[in-house]
Amino acid sequence: MSKALEGVRILDFGHVQAGPTATQLLAWMGADVIKIEMPGRGDITRGQLQDVKGADSLYFTMLNSNKRSITVNLKAPGGRRIIEDLVKRCDVILENFGPGVLDRQGFTWERFQELNPRVIYASIKGFGPGPYADCKAYENVAQCMGGSASTTGWEDGPPTVTGAQIGDSGTGVHTIAGILAALFQRERTGRGQRVEVAMTDAVLNLCRVKMRDQQRLQHGPLPEYPNKEFGDAVPRAGNASGGGQPGAALRCAPGGPNDWVYVIIQPPSWEPLMRLCGREELIDDPGYATPQARLPKIPECFSIIEKWTMTKTKFEVMQALNEVDVPCGPILSMKDIYEDKSLYERGYLVELDHPTRGRYVQVGSPINLSDSPVEVKRSPLLGEHTDEILGWLGYSKDEIVKLRDEKAI
Ligand SMILES: CC(C)(COP(=O)(O)OP(=O)(O)OC[C@H]1O[C@@H](n2cnc3c(N)ncnc32)[C@H](O)[C@@H]1OP(=O)(O)O)[C@@H](O)C(=O)NCCC(=O)NCCS
Repeated sequence: MSKALEGVRILDFGHVQAGPTATQLLAWMGADVIKIEMPGRGDITRGQLQDVKGADSLYFTMLNSNKRSITVNLKAPGGRRIIEDLVKRCDVILENFGPGVLDRQGFTWERFQELNPRVIYASIKGFGPGPYADCKAYENVAQCMGGSASTTGWEDGPPTVTGAQIGDSGTGVHTIAGILAALFQRERTGRGQRVEVAMTDAVLNLCRVKMRDQQRLQHGPLPEYPNKEFGDAVPRAGNASGGGQPGAALRCAPGGPNDWVYVIIQPPSWEPLMRLCGREELIDDPGYATPQARLPKIPECFSIIEKWTMTKTKFEVMQALNEVDVPCGPILSMKDIYEDKSLYERGYLVELDHPTRGRYVQVGSPINLSDSPVEVKRSPLLGEHTDEILGWLGYSKDEIVKLRDEKAI
């Protein structure tokens, strides 16, 4: 069966996480992703957090499935010639280097357009134009400056970063939307275009409900927040729900670190919840019966429910609540998820063989297209496809040997 992006070729300068997330998803949708890597070292994540000596790290394998790897020295004339040859034959270029890295090698947007007017050039940076444009950024920098860290955590605790990689992977996913839109527009105009995404912008996009609350704060305290006092900025609100329906994490049996369940009280949920908790008298009590009456008593309402959840495991709570249509989510540890057979059965967790590290588990594609099934393949070894790609570009065996001698590949 053909793939959605079959025939789309991507020149991938992505490294670490933000860029590789984007190109991995594009590869799963069928694009041919050619990953450019520094000779001898490759993407820095190959060697970071290594668990198997001498083998590519899981950091790297998790983010680079279904790609081809070619080593090219950007700083050697022969290497730059290879890049130019590739630009002419690719549909999309993606990079997430520090500001100015490609420009310093003569690879500006103008140069790419000269080489290939149809090429789409996607760049990920920490910041958009403005005072921070020249600054480098990592995940947590973006979380801190995009509004996430100041609004995550507990009122009396420090700003907190989230384990979800919203700055890196979140930005990668935003970038894909830009690339696909540009490919679609190119169908009509015949021209490529520049796609630029800043990590801090992507994080703020994901935190836009907190910007909503910043403006609501001008009209008084935020009643759905558990906080007693409000300053002039949106406070950290613990596990309170970010939406219009109150929610809280409640303890379950037997009391381990992840024996918790997140419960949401939609208006119709009050009655079944109170029945399960054996508190039928509160169903019609005017002090509790409506969302407005409950709003000032949210902690008390959840502590009533918690008395019941503490008598059950998180999965028993989930079953009981779903039977009465109450939305909830047991807190799943990474171990719970790693051992969940149903995820393997439906191909979202995939076991792969790797020539140097052996078997490992890969998170597959969260996007499923009915006419473009995803086949997850292991990440490439460093330079595994160098000769193959150079041969395809028309370089002879002797020329390849010479390029190697010159340290251009
Ligand atoms: C992530 C980041 C902070 C890493 O910084 P860094 O390790 O100093 O790497 P940079 O991207 O700035 O620079 C890479 C250097 O390696 C060189 N390099 C990279 N690939 C190369 C190759 N194939 N051949 C030769 N040199 C290469 C570059 O030319 C550059 O050298 P220069 O500084 O002399 O010009 C930075 O890339 C960045 O801010 N990226 C944008 C935001 C981002 O994506 N951050 C999150 C990453 S998950």
